[in-house]
Amino acid sequence: MKDKLIIFDTTLRDGEQSPGASMTRDEKVRIAKALEKLKVDIIEAGFPVASPGDFEAVKAVAEAVTDSVVCGLARTSDADIDAAAAALKPARSARIHTFIATSPIHMTHKLRMSPDDVLATAVRAVKRARNYTDNVEFSPEDAGRSELDFLCRVIEAVIDAGATTINVPDTVGYSVPHQFGETIRRIIERVPNSDKAVFSVHCHNDLGLAVSNSLAAVLNGARQVECTINGLGERAGNAALEEIVMAVRTRRDIFVCDTNIDTTEIVNCSRLVSNITGFAVQPNKAIVGANAFAHESGIHQDGIIKSRETYEIMRAQDVGWHTNRLVLGKHSGRNAFKTRLKELGFEFATEEELNETFKRYKELADKKHEIFDEDLQALVTDSLQDSSNERIKFQSLKVTLETGEVPAAEITVSVDGVEKQGHATGAGPVDAVFKAIESIIVSGCNLQLYSVTSITGGTDSQGEVTVRVDKDGRIVNGRGSDTDIIAASAKAYINALNRALDNSARAHPQI
Ligand code: KIV
Ligand code: ZN
Repeated sequence: MKDKLIIFDTTLRDGEQSPGASMTRDEKVRIAKALEKLKVDIIEAGFPVASPGDFEAVKAVAEAVTDSVVCGLARTSDADIDAAAAALKPARSARIHTFIATSPIHMTHKLRMSPDDVLATAVRAVKRARNYTDNVEFSPEDAGRSELDFLCRVIEAVIDAGATTINVPDTVGYSVPHQFGETIRRIIERVPNSDKAVFSVHCHNDLGLAVSNSLAAVLNGARQVECTINGLGERAGNAALEEIVMAVRTRRDIFVCDTNIDTTEIVNCSRLVSNITGFAVQPNKAIVGANAFAHESGIHQDGIIKSRETYEIMRAQDVGWHTNRLVLGKHSGRNAFKTRLKELGFEFATEEELNETFKRYKELADKKHEIFDEDLQALVTDSLQDSSNERIKFQSLKVTLETGEVPAAEITVSVDGVEKQGHATGAGPVDAVFKAIESIIVSGCNLQLYSVTSITGGTDSQGEVTVRVDKDGRIVNGRGSDTDIIAASAKAYINALNRALDNSARAHPQI
């Protein structure tokens, strides 16, 4: 009988701390439902005290999720812990996760507290959290650069105070696998009451070692891993959930534990997170990248045809890739459409929403005869975006393009319900379109990133465009999809401007 490896997903909290990845309450709920379907054990839904938006989002996730434990993050202050408890009140099963830094550099320069004060504050916070729930996690932030003796002292004290999970974060991604694994082993050996808590790790990817460090910790006794879908997260991100889960599963010969994850939901979940956050998945990303199971070289293809195991260590369908990916066509009806979306985890709150999305589906099917899951996911993500706060709406676009001539764009948008037109020329068609939009909006945003990928194969594929803009230091992403990539670019830019100009809808966890 194998030990259980608890999967703690922090896409909605640490993942959301990626610049531009902030999500609305409804987007968080949709991802939380997908994580529940994936069977993650714990969903860290946010940082309730950070903003009213994040509080409401954690509360909404707590209301919507029934199978997974819902967790809220809190520093050690009473206000943080009380806010986490209040937001988690509707949860069927709740965890409060409290943290304080223990490394000399953080204690001296950030907290300006003595080690003894840090220890006393940690104990106090855990006790307060225990008044609300018996499921309390404590993290000594920057444990990767903390002194082992002090770390052990703090951990022993917080377990005595009632912490049931001890999470050891490599906050700045400084550790390397053999050393991090050894640290976990030594903590578990040295802390006298370590048998009263589950040991967890939370690794950042600054040196590209987050997954390796997490797995080294698992080999040395950690039984919870904190991770995110697609490795999203602060700076270079967190350990990728899909990589941890598949490593443990594929190398059963090495790991003495396994997860409860329904791996066939991995690709769906990855796409949903990518669509909502606007963070495209690189094609060569392990498990969920478009090329993860593609074989280009003739030798490899020949090997695969003779026996799949020659070059494949996992089956694509086991992580949710489908070989028969064509799902719907021009003549598919509303029922087939609804059923397939339900299988993909999308449910519509109202008939109107369904009808509107079905109408858009028919328009797409007119342009593109074969509709794949990826098309449906992009379509639904566009349709379900909360447009109530969108001041700018795309209406139509005309682009003039001829070799040797300067590209020109004419765009019609509505701003607060009033139709407006903009014209501009540019270095290329996308440049002209963005300038035409700016001629109307004058947003004050700086474009930081523009990227376009095709959603499926073939020249009739929809292009998916992601843009990132910076408005007065606040970074937001926008996305848009269309079979016409210039129109997709216009939609993505308008989407980013709407988010940049709207301060209300998004939770901002960075405080
Ligand atoms: O990276 C980190 O240390 C964190 C903690 C709050 C666990 O995200
Ligand atoms: Zn983190």
